[in-house]
Amino acid sequence: MADEILSFIDEVRRRRTFAIISHPDAGKTTLTEKLLLYGGAIRLAGSVKSRRAQNHAVSDWMEIEKQRGISVTSSVLQFDYNGYCINILDTPGHQDFSEDTYRTLMAADSAVMVIDCSKGVEDQTKKLFHVCKMRGIPIFTFINKLDRAGKDPFELLEDIEQVLGIRSYPMNWPIGTDRNFKGVFNRQKKQIELFNDGNHGQSIAKAVIGDISDVKFRDLLGEDLHRKLIDDIDLLDMAGDDFNLDQILNGELTPVFFGSALTNFGVEPFLESFLNITTPPQPRSSNIGNVNPESDNFSGFIFKIQANMNPTHRDRIAFLRICSGKFEKGMTVNHVQENKKVRLAQPQQFLAQDRVVVETAYPGDIIGIHDPGIFKIGDTLCQDQTKLQYEGIPVFAPEHFAKVFTKNSLKRKQFIKGITQLAEEGTIQVYKRPDIGVEELIVGVVGALQFEVLEYRLKHEYGVDIIMERLPYRYIRWVEIDHFDPKTFSITMDTMIVEDEDGHPVLLFQNEWSIQQVKDRNKQAQLKEISLRK
Ligand code: G4P
Repeated sequence: MADEILSFIDEVRRRRTFAIISHPDAGKTTLTEKLLLYGGAIRLAGSVKSRRAQNHAVSDWMEIEKQRGISVTSSVLQFDYNGYCINILDTPGHQDFSEDTYRTLMAADSAVMVIDCSKGVEDQTKKLFHVCKMRGIPIFTFINKLDRAGKDPFELLEDIEQVLGIRSYPMNWPIGTDRNFKGVFNRQKKQIELFNDGNHGQSIAKAVIGDISDVKFRDLLGEDLHRKLIDDIDLLDMAGDDFNLDQILNGELTPVFFGSALTNFGVEPFLESFLNITTPPQPRSSNIGNVNPESDNFSGFIFKIQANMNPTHRDRIAFLRICSGKFEKGMTVNHVQENKKVRLAQPQQFLAQDRVVVETAYPGDIIGIHDPGIFKIGDTLCQDQTKLQYEGIPVFAPEHFAKVFTKNSLKRKQFIKGITQLAEEGTIQVYKRPDIGVEELIVGVVGALQFEVLEYRLKHEYGVDIIMERLPYRYIRWVEIDHFDPKTFSITMDTMIVEDEDGHPVLLFQNEWSIQQVKDRNKQAQLKEISLRK
């Protein structure tokens, strides 16, 4: 018995569950692949050919999903490395960017932010960063593509601090850039790590390691580079932030690593240091206080629902993040929001590239459970508790809006039913004009792909053809105010007042100038970018 408890706790403590966030093309896929390579989950990585083949497979799958009208999943990869059990949550970007991308971050215990050294902080990284910041999880930065010409490292740190508003602590410092990128100085170990590139990143990069004062490095680097490195390190030690673990774990200071995912330079030191610093699953807040992951009672919450993974059924897969206790296949748990018991019969887990049926799983793990249409995003499942509810998943700001009508007015009932169900599932957000009501529905989405999903699913699942009229709004704000009166609330000409599914007042804006105007004119109100309702 004692052994069993110990091994359960060991399992929890070796879990590291994180998301990799970046702007498209910064190198998220390449870095993920390299982490799998170091974890031994794949044997060969980085060869352009195998990457192309993989990309091809992924895009084919997306096409199939699209034809079936499914939102593209964020997948979860699980693998072992040095005794750790790593769960990487993928956050889709490009045209697959959707509200699910944000929701996935609710299931992560930390985030790795990949930045292209020639670009600095880009738009999508900013959006994803803000969600991580809101959660207060540790955020690690990997500045990528050091094998190419990029911005000055000091400028990149400045960019992170100015644009994202987070202090930074470089864990290592690049030695040379572009073709002359030779390695890094490891500030924790106070040693130089020079990389040998044998085969262009296909296998693990080996390093020549030693003390900065060792004359061998002056010869290897050349006088100028060696002197510059010593000066840079002095400057960082004197003028930079100190390493502060508490601040890192609270998401107030980001440890920064420089490297090149393509050539593997700096990937392993990053992985080791990251795993060392970041935490296993932590207690999670709920309506009955913090729940300890090491408690025996199983609990978790649903952060994403994916429809129609099996084309012959209307079935859905609900993605559940385990927060406490051990999961065992076939167990019966309480579905708190519906006050019902459910049996978790065929749960799936995602091991490296494959999907397998899972027998057991632990806090930090993500499992996919069969959903016959009973779960909602944010629902809690737990054992031995009927009242426990984890904090809900927020509603994130859509950036695309459209008026939606049914082509055939006789299908109005099915149309309303379909729209309502898809909104409940989290596929779209729906708003009404207070003066018009359900006669004119406005749909908001984070990524334009969600519109296609809406159109397809209404047609194929509810038999309704729709007309969508895109609207010029790009920003949304939820109004927090004691009493909202649309007649006295002062807005600009190009702003629209609507209400969300809970009847909460919401403003749609076309530009940031109008947002500022409305803020200035209504000092008593707060305008929120993320709604914690639902
Ligand atoms: P993403 O998932 O963030 O969108 O980025 P991804 O890894 O797909 O990388 C985008 C492009 O950047 C790819 O090139 C990739 O090879 C390249 N890349 C990633 N990491 C590095 C790096 O450390 N150094 C350099 N020089 N390039 C890097 P591509 O030409 O678009 O694709 P491919 O032909 O290489 O597959």
